[in-house]
Amino acid sequence: MTHADRRHLSRRRALRSLAGFLAASPLVQAQREIVYTPDRMPTLDDIVNVFEMEPVCRLRLPKQNYDFIAGGVDNEWTMKRNRDAFDRFTIHPRMLVNTMKMDLSTTLFGTKIGMPVLVAPTAGHQLAHPDGEEATAKAAAASKTIMCVSSVASLPFEKIAQATDAPKWWQLYPREDDESTEARVRAAVAAGYKAVILTVDAPYNSHRERLLRNREAGQVPGQGAATTTSAPRRRRGAAETAHPYRLQPALVAAWDWTYVKRVKDWAKVPVLVKGLLTAEDAGLAKEHGADGIVVSNHGGRYLDYAPSTIEVLPEILKEVNGRMPVLIDSGFRRGTDILKALALGANAVLVGRPPLWGLGAFGQAGVEKVLQMLESELALAMGLAGQTTIQGLRPSLVRLH
Ligand SMILES: Cc1cc2nc3c(=O)[nH]c(=O)nc-3n(C[C@H](O)[C@H](O)[C@H](O)COP(=O)(O)O)c2cc1C
Repeated sequence: MTHADRRHLSRRRALRSLAGFLAASPLVQAQREIVYTPDRMPTLDDIVNVFEMEPVCRLRLPKQNYDFIAGGVDNEWTMKRNRDAFDRFTIHPRMLVNTMKMDLSTTLFGTKIGMPVLVAPTAGHQLAHPDGEEATAKAAAASKTIMCVSSVASLPFEKIAQATDAPKWWQLYPREDDESTEARVRAAVAAGYKAVILTVDAPYNSHRERLLRNREAGQVPGQGAATTTSAPRRRRGAAETAHPYRLQPALVAAWDWTYVKRVKDWAKVPVLVKGLLTAEDAGLAKEHGADGIVVSNHGGRYLDYAPSTIEVLPEILKEVNGRMPVLIDSGFRRGTDILKALALGANAVLVGRPPLWGLGAFGQAGVEKVLQMLESELALAMGLAGQTTIQGLRPSLVRLH
């Protein structure tokens, strides 16, 4: 090799390594994404998928409000797993099916809805926007779907019920005494809520490290007074100081499966148990009279290293065997995610953070856009996979790898 050749080669090597360096550089990476800053915000039309709502919401909200919405617990492993697990499933499309007429509607407990994507119960919508749950309810109604209203909503449930005529469900974190819990359940049903969701996966306040760092107490064991954003109502002070390990138990920590029957007696509308992750518990829920279940890990906000929901869905569906509707949430962000769960046999999917991102970013219009994008993505995925109805979806459409 001549001297000139050697020089040429080392120049090529240098150029290659420079190209590698540039490709890995955060600066160049950022060029590939659209970068928003508070003085360069997108309009609603600029948003092309659900993920893109999140940075806009983040820029618009006070840090502690955004962190409350975004966070998981501990290592946030389950929160990440909720997304990663979808990558293990592929969709196996059918061709030359006439998909010109598509119908995404479905019926849950006698209520017909336009699409099988519901708004999950999430606390404190006014943390995202002053219009709070009223805006979310209107957006859900415009999208012909059901909003599940949290029992720790920013606005009274009666007010949210009146925001629209569309069907809504109410989520319950029970209170200390049965009388006031019963009164609340009955009042919610009288206000027009068509089903009650009993959330059972939050027996203790969890370790929300983002909140700890913001010096926000409430969600964190041993950290002082509950905030307005804290989840289940619990007797403060006494229980916590009495707890040998300084945990903050919620009331559900003291119950067993017989509680489902009590809630059913009060509600007299369908009762769904939310927060199940095992076939055993799905079986017990049915045995104790649940009318439906929501497979959920609370969006990764309680037990870290709990599995993602899509990976346990098949064993739960096998146990339930069509005896009651099985709904699912945690990590759903794409039409293809939703299609995978529906094909496996789930009756509907709930989304938690995405509507809050839309609400924080653009108010009611943002929530509507989130729901519309999910609906269109689901429709497109179905169209490309040769599917025309929700009821016609079959497990053979997806494969686990
Ligand atoms: C900010 C926030 C507040 C929540 N509040 C409640 C609540 O009050 N009741 C409840 O049952 N679940 C609550 N959840 C859990 C959701 O219902 C749902 O299970 C979860 O958000 C789904 O995961 P995703 O956010 O990844 O879609 C909350 C979740 C978030 C993100």
